[in-house]
Amino acid sequence: MPDRRKILVTSALPYANGPIHLGHMLEHIQTDIWVRFQNSMGNMCTYVCADDTHGTAVMLRAEKEGKTPEDLIKAVQADHMRDFGGFLIDHHNYYSTHSDENRYYAELIYTRLKENDMINVRTISQLYDPVKEIFLADRFVKGTCPKCGSADQYGDACEVCSATYEPNELINPKSAYTGATPEVRESEHFFFKLPECQAMLKEWTRSGTLQDSVANKLAEWLDAELQEWDVSRDAPYFGFEIPGAPGKFFYVWLDAPIGYMASFKNLCDRRDDLEFDDYWKPDSTAELYHFIGKDIINFHALFWPAMLENAGYRKPSGVFAHGYITVNGEKMSKSRGTFIMAKTYLEHLNPEYLRYYYAAKLGSGVEDIDLSLTDFAQRVNSDLVGKVVNIASRCAGFIKKAGGSLSDTVAEPQMLADFQQAGTTIAQAYERREFSKAVREIMNLADRANEYIQAKAPWSMAKEAGREQEVHDVCSMGIHLFRLITLYLGPVLPDMNEKVKAFLNVESLNFTDRETVLTGHAINKFKPLLTRIELTQIDALIEASKEDVAADAKTGTPAAAGQNQAQAKPAKGQKAAKADDTAEQGGEIEFNDFAKLDLRVARVVEADHVEGADKLLRLQLDVGEDTTRQVFSGIKSHYQPEQLVGKNVVLVYNLKPRKMRFGMSEGMVLAAGGGNELWVLEAHEDAAPGTRIS
Ligand code: 2FM
Ligand code: ZN
Repeated sequence: MPDRRKILVTSALPYANGPIHLGHMLEHIQTDIWVRFQNSMGNMCTYVCADDTHGTAVMLRAEKEGKTPEDLIKAVQADHMRDFGGFLIDHHNYYSTHSDENRYYAELIYTRLKENDMINVRTISQLYDPVKEIFLADRFVKGTCPKCGSADQYGDACEVCSATYEPNELINPKSAYTGATPEVRESEHFFFKLPECQAMLKEWTRSGTLQDSVANKLAEWLDAELQEWDVSRDAPYFGFEIPGAPGKFFYVWLDAPIGYMASFKNLCDRRDDLEFDDYWKPDSTAELYHFIGKDIINFHALFWPAMLENAGYRKPSGVFAHGYITVNGEKMSKSRGTFIMAKTYLEHLNPEYLRYYYAAKLGSGVEDIDLSLTDFAQRVNSDLVGKVVNIASRCAGFIKKAGGSLSDTVAEPQMLADFQQAGTTIAQAYERREFSKAVREIMNLADRANEYIQAKAPWSMAKEAGREQEVHDVCSMGIHLFRLITLYLGPVLPDMNEKVKAFLNVESLNFTDRETVLTGHAINKFKPLLTRIELTQIDALIEASKEDVAADAKTGTPAAAGQNQAQAKPAKGQKAAKADDTAEQGGEIEFNDFAKLDLRVARVVEADHVEGADKLLRLQLDVGEDTTRQVFSGIKSHYQPEQLVGKNVVLVYNLKPRKMRFGMSEGMVLAAGGGNELWVLEAHEDAAPGTRIS
């Protein structure tokens, strides 16, 4: 056997300000399957995670709930651990970034960066909310875009024209907390000298540590000029105070990845077989992998390796990014009941169904994954219940009748050898995170096993006298095949793996056991392993998810987790990730200002995707009098083009045309919402295009 690999694996640390939902579960299921596979192969793979507890969002939520941040993060951590446990996620340690270990490593790493002259101190001007007495992060300032004049844009980037800018460039800026007009104040900040790491990062990002598409994307930034990274925040802030700098705190994204180390250290202190240095010293031969969402690549593939390198630690062996989850082809939506919490799912359905479905769809790339609920039910029913479990349920009864032990001989040695051999391809697919391929291979085996049993029809043979041995041999063969299939599915379906172990009366069912054949082996009574998903269960889940949203609206607790607090632009001109649900407050305008707006009914005659645009759809609008106009609208995440064609929408007719990267945009289509919800405003279907709205 090759050497036992020592591997440390992490999933991104969930924020401690919201519940776990099915988006988080994609990542933790993906990681958990990979870790279980490694251990099933006989490697020593350790999986750590933690809650990401620091930052303004946690501080403000605690304040709103009348709690201390410490009490809040404790309660949230308990919920998170319950949900991950419910989905059979086997974190070897689930810790917290608000821990002694994390403070220790954050201070140590920062001190080393400072000693290595990698920290710059500069005074910066920042917007400040004089009512709340807090500096405002870019995402907490809203105002009118200085480039295109669109109202209600965040402080760092315009979602309409894609311009990026500084928050103090916004026209008529307002604090998202209080609606107050922010003041400009100066403050001293600490910056990590990322530009000094450019050469190292260019090499590291191209050394096979990243997916090709990710490396290509990063290469664009690495070829441009990198910016220094602001790693400090002013009080009030929930986090770790910077040593020697009263009132200054580490930015949450500095200590969040250090949380991986802290969680591992906390585990090492309880385990004799794990040594911290074996995994983190610069010449470590252990492997280190981070599973993350594609929105936080910069932090893991630029800042993090740069920090590690300059603080005397090893860098990751790999950073694996995955895409987002959509439900029924669209972004998870609260009103449609598809914003599904882990807890709510678990109240209605078996976690292994989702583990299986995600595995069946996951590849090694960053493509988004759709959880289509009817396809989900159908696939689980047909594959797991109809194919896999069916093999055992058709054979087990005959084994029992024959005395409860499997035959002493193997009926089809070649077929068994083929099934064992398939393990090599399946293992390779798991190793490369091509889980959909692994699942496909395994289901091919299940089809072959079913065809074999179907062709032999032991239930018919059993009716003929003198064929008992043949029945016994065929059904034993069926059980051997079933054993290999469930062994291969073990990383995906750990609970089923346990049940099959009990049924087969074996101690282990790992990849390392695949050469074993249970000839002459006594097995136990077969008990049902999985039941079908009924569509009524799916309906109930959706209804319950709608109720979750209603309940959250009442208590004022945001149901949406995954709010991204990321504030970082490693390269000039690069946009920060988007935050959800920022509070808004409108200011007053004069009637004359309002009267300037020329709103008209416009009918969508064409709608298409725009190549290279993440958010925009191109609309061709009939505006009456045989005239059409082209408008680019940032509604792609909520609408398919074909849903829009034929609709009467509301157009800001007299907006000055804007030249966008993709062409001219001649007006603006009005929509309600933002964040997770968005509805294009519709005029009555009978209204003629061009009709004025007043
Ligand atoms: O994006 C997020 O949800 C962050 N809480 C992830 C942190 S990962 C790591 F760096 F800690
Ligand atoms: Zn703009």
